[in-house]
Amino acid sequence: MRKSRQAPAALVVMGLVIVVSARQGEALIADYEGATYGEWVAEGTAFGTGPAKGTLPGQMHVSGFLGKGLVNSFNGGDAATGTLTSPPFTVERTYITFLIGGGGWKEKTCMNLLVDGRVVRTATGPNVVPGGSEELAPGSWDVSEFIGKQAQIQIVDDATGGWGHINVDQIVATDTLPPQPQKNVTREVAADKRWLLLPVKNGGKKCKVEVRAGSQVLRFFDIELAEGEPDWWAPLDVGAWRGQALTLWADKLPAGSKGLEQVRLADEALPKEGFYEEALRPQLHFSARCGWLNDPNGLVFYNGEYHLFFQHNPYGVNWGNMHWGHAVSKDLVHWAELGEALYPDALGPMFSGSAVVDHANTSGFGRDGKAPLVLVYTAAGNPATQCIAWSLDGRTFIKYEGNPVVKNITGGNRDPKVFWHAPTKRWIMALYVERPDKLHTVELLASPDLREWAAVSAVPGDRGGGHYLYECPDLFELPVAGGAGRRWVLFGADGQYAVGAFDGSTFKPEAERLRGHGGSAYYAAQTFSDLPDGRRVLIGWLRAPSPGMPFNQCMSLAQELGLCHTSRGVSLTRRPVRELEALRERSQSFGPDGLEPGGKDPLDGFEAELVELRVACELTPDAVVAVDLRGVPVRYDMAKQELTVARHTTAWPVTGGKLALIVYLDRTCVEVFSQDGLLYAPVAALPDPGLKKAGMAVEKGAARSVRGEAHALRSAWPAR
Ligand code: FRU
Repeated sequence: MRKSRQAPAALVVMGLVIVVSARQGEALIADYEGATYGEWVAEGTAFGTGPAKGTLPGQMHVSGFLGKGLVNSFNGGDAATGTLTSPPFTVERTYITFLIGGGGWKEKTCMNLLVDGRVVRTATGPNVVPGGSEELAPGSWDVSEFIGKQAQIQIVDDATGGWGHINVDQIVATDTLPPQPQKNVTREVAADKRWLLLPVKNGGKKCKVEVRAGSQVLRFFDIELAEGEPDWWAPLDVGAWRGQALTLWADKLPAGSKGLEQVRLADEALPKEGFYEEALRPQLHFSARCGWLNDPNGLVFYNGEYHLFFQHNPYGVNWGNMHWGHAVSKDLVHWAELGEALYPDALGPMFSGSAVVDHANTSGFGRDGKAPLVLVYTAAGNPATQCIAWSLDGRTFIKYEGNPVVKNITGGNRDPKVFWHAPTKRWIMALYVERPDKLHTVELLASPDLREWAAVSAVPGDRGGGHYLYECPDLFELPVAGGAGRRWVLFGADGQYAVGAFDGSTFKPEAERLRGHGGSAYYAAQTFSDLPDGRRVLIGWLRAPSPGMPFNQCMSLAQELGLCHTSRGVSLTRRPVRELEALRERSQSFGPDGLEPGGKDPLDGFEAELVELRVACELTPDAVVAVDLRGVPVRYDMAKQELTVARHTTAWPVTGGKLALIVYLDRTCVEVFSQDGLLYAPVAALPDPGLKKAGMAVEKGAARSVRGEAHALRSAWPAR
């Protein structure tokens, strides 16, 4: 066991008698602002050799500490253990106050007050389940009964699993407790306008808020309520309760909080100016007006519109409060966001799922010959179940009173993808079911009417955490190019897929599963249901952050899927949908020309903020060809068979030296399609805002017959 005993540092350990702060009756015990722990003794490795300066490598963002330093036992991650013990001091004041965060394990991740070697007071952080927050919160002990006694403070990290660490800062001895946080704070508002605007401070203190009418809870969510100037205002539609008196309730607010008072009513959800023009607003890719977005949900064509629902946190720029956001489009390119389609309810937050048009009205939700649009989603409460909601206008969604339609199978079952199987005349649901032995299984269920479901088969997964078709399954049939029959494709959230046969009950893979993409920022893709032209179009979640914006993350471009024969068996191809051509504003074609190191740049003179580049060439075996789009490199190394996009490198097999690239550059991401759609790399990247130039060069070897088109694109916002 390593002991580190450093020279006393007057500022780190302060005898209660020595330093009395400006506040009457208050003395600092430790603020961890020095380079070492001073006279405190660190044992084990978890506490390192001195205070941390905030977040440690691999840790979620640590906040809520004072000054620059704090005790953070994440040195070596959760696995490391140790203790940090103060020198003895005399208890002279009524209270000891502190800031504490991290693991919530009693006796394992804690801070103790020791008197006569016995633990007489203890406190832990708040976290024992995955997720949670690394924010430190105030705590205090009444120590009046020990006044005059010798005591020590010992910070303990004796936990090695999840949340196996403890964070502490600002330990103070005091005779008066600082103002305490307020609990159960309420404010009455008259819903005389349609929108409640909630002030959000990104990274602020999180609290739980409910909007109530009498004793009925209408809406509930977590929110980082702004105390001062908000970063943005989150709109909440209270139009359904117009004229009523509503109560806003918060579980806990800091002393003197202005958070609830700042909430206001407005006729408009958002200011008309400025939206979709923000510096890091993707211009080709869909993003939510406000808040966090993840998986696409319920992709469907209904009543002449493409519908894109999505995992949405309307009240924060990080994951949480899952709602189904909703947007519509006439062309898969220009999207208009509508309000929330599904709000969390007593069955849980609204996790991912799909949508179908029930043409034959098997569900009975249809009226007057109108086929209902039916959403099938996971209510991720405890237990997680599958539920349905329906609509006749594609705008208002009514949750089925008989929900859930599929009861809990195992803890984590989720993400139902439903389709009509014409030969057996029934609905099929592909559902992710994590079995207790960690088999990541996709289970298939069948239903005559979308209400009653029965299990029909299971596609076994890998044992022991293998991510075989992990989450968000999709199952669909596609023709193989060249008239070579049809195949079924089953894929999962990470894009891996299996090609095979489906007889209406069982999916039989015909080959090993294949990698679906070579990007770094892509997940949970889904295909559209009910497209009128028979295409199979897919949209995925492009994990490209927009830091500092009132929104976060975006969707991939819509892509048309196909199948073709390759040496690795039947494989998926994807191409950006042809509708994207409508965004072309200025175009320049080039070639065919040879290109060698130092040769004339085929993209010379081309400038654009948003780019579509199509280029094909034939490379010598040693060639390295590099495209630069506003400082974002797209570089192909023929000898290594590798493509680098921004800082991401991926295997990119190009046979016969014939390279073909289609590249879309947006404000937060790049998508590269290649080799007739067999290769695809979505990558998060921030182009240089000061640069508009594109360029292409050969660094090594030679490229022959370099030809293509460069298009300057216009923004897809606002919806037209
Ligand atoms: C995939 C996922 C889904 C789940 C949803 C929750 O990204 O974890 O499995 O339904 O996100 O937001």
